[in-house]
Amino acid sequence: MATKKAKKTPSKVKKSWHGRLTAEADAETAALLTSLDVDQTLWRYDIVASLAHAQMLCEQKLITRADLTKIKSGLRAIAGKIEAGGLTMPIELEDIHMVIEKALIDRVGAAGGKLHTGRSRNDQVALDLRLWARDAVDNSTDAVAALQRALVDLAERCGDLVIPAYTHLQRAQPILAGHNLLAYVEMLQRDVDRLADARKRINVCPLGSGAVAGTSLPLDRQRTAKLLGFKTITRNSIDATSDRDFLAELCFACAMLAVHLSRWAEDWIIYSTAEFGMIELHDAYCTSSSMMPQKKNADTLELIRAKSAMAIAQLTGMLTLLKGLPLAYNRDLQDDKRFAFATVQATTRALAVAAGVVSTTKFNPDRITADLDKGHLDATALAEYITTKGTPFRTAHQIVAKLVVRADAAGKTLAELPLATLQAACRKIGPDVRRHLGAANVVKRYATQGAAGKKQLLKQLEFWKKKLG
Ligand code: ARG
Repeated sequence: MATKKAKKTPSKVKKSWHGRLTAEADAETAALLTSLDVDQTLWRYDIVASLAHAQMLCEQKLITRADLTKIKSGLRAIAGKIEAGGLTMPIELEDIHMVIEKALIDRVGAAGGKLHTGRSRNDQVALDLRLWARDAVDNSTDAVAALQRALVDLAERCGDLVIPAYTHLQRAQPILAGHNLLAYVEMLQRDVDRLADARKRINVCPLGSGAVAGTSLPLDRQRTAKLLGFKTITRNSIDATSDRDFLAELCFACAMLAVHLSRWAEDWIIYSTAEFGMIELHDAYCTSSSMMPQKKNADTLELIRAKSAMAIAQLTGMLTLLKGLPLAYNRDLQDDKRFAFATVQATTRALAVAAGVVSTTKFNPDRITADLDKGHLDATALAEYITTKGTPFRTAHQIVAKLVVRADAAGKTLAELPLATLQAACRKIGPDVRRHLGAANVVKRYATQGAAGKKQLLKQLEFWKKKLG
């Protein structure tokens, strides 16, 4: 069946690099080719990078001092214009690099045309992305540290509050509430460490790698790297223009962080239910229902949990984009920004409110303490007490398991069973068993490093307060 051809509108914007081609892209093609909708985000980095490149070109006598002055003032004026939202960005110019270069040439003439000396958009975009990624790492690290501090503060405020620890979401053993909170601080520290590790590979300057093979012009690569605060420069121009590992690593670090946030969010959604009643979230972080007037929903935590889906999906997209790409730069790489920016945005959104949620949340000590004797949290401690009397742990485990069944049948806790009943199950149990029963007693006896007791918690708190400042 013959279909009518869509009306093709050739572009009217003159591109600075179009000597080679005899036909212009139509509107749909221009829309496919452009990345301006996302890479506008890079404008500050693009300008800072161009200022450094121009400075180096001048120092290497590749452009005159007069050219440099014009380029600098032109780029600064363009920055002001973009800041004020006053620079038009026709999609026919494809990307932010061409938009800025064209604006510069329009503004300062021939000197503007010298900015791209010894440079390709391939090394330019790799550079901009590294500058962006470096900031993303630093901002995320600060936000994670703020969340860690909020958790440490809350852990400290919880004092001696004992709560149940869960495994399989079933009551397991008693712990200090602070110990639970500091578990998230540990996870988050690994995220900080991962970000710092990714930063090492981000903080390498690719500028001077050109399109793929470098340039015959005497650029001083170390100089631009230094001007832009990079630790070092890339070694291989092919790899430098096609490497996006640093973005994938950033995406992974963010996705892992988002997964941690989702686990915390899930825990607190559960803890805030009427059934658990362990915490009370601040109203400012909850929403109600359009139909059920009584509702207080933990929507903020649910959306924090949801952001991990976004981050994971974007990481998957990022890796999929890179898979099977031939050396070196391919235009596929233009879409890397869609994945990387979205990953960072998702985690940034979640992090931005997480610390606020933590610092405003209150534990419900009355309800927690009233429920604490449910679930025989002291059963393991009782088995351990029996082993101290010389009984093998396996035997002790069976003895206590039977006592649990008896206690359940009688509607009692282990501590409420008469001593005679305990001794009938195991002759070695003495009156000193009382000091081993009940959640509060159990918590006092934790002996190992990193356990859920008071002295271990104090040690952890001291460590974190020193580390987080
Ligand atoms: N906008 C492109 C990107 O983000 C850079 C342009 C490279 N284009 C090219 N034809 N070599 O990857």
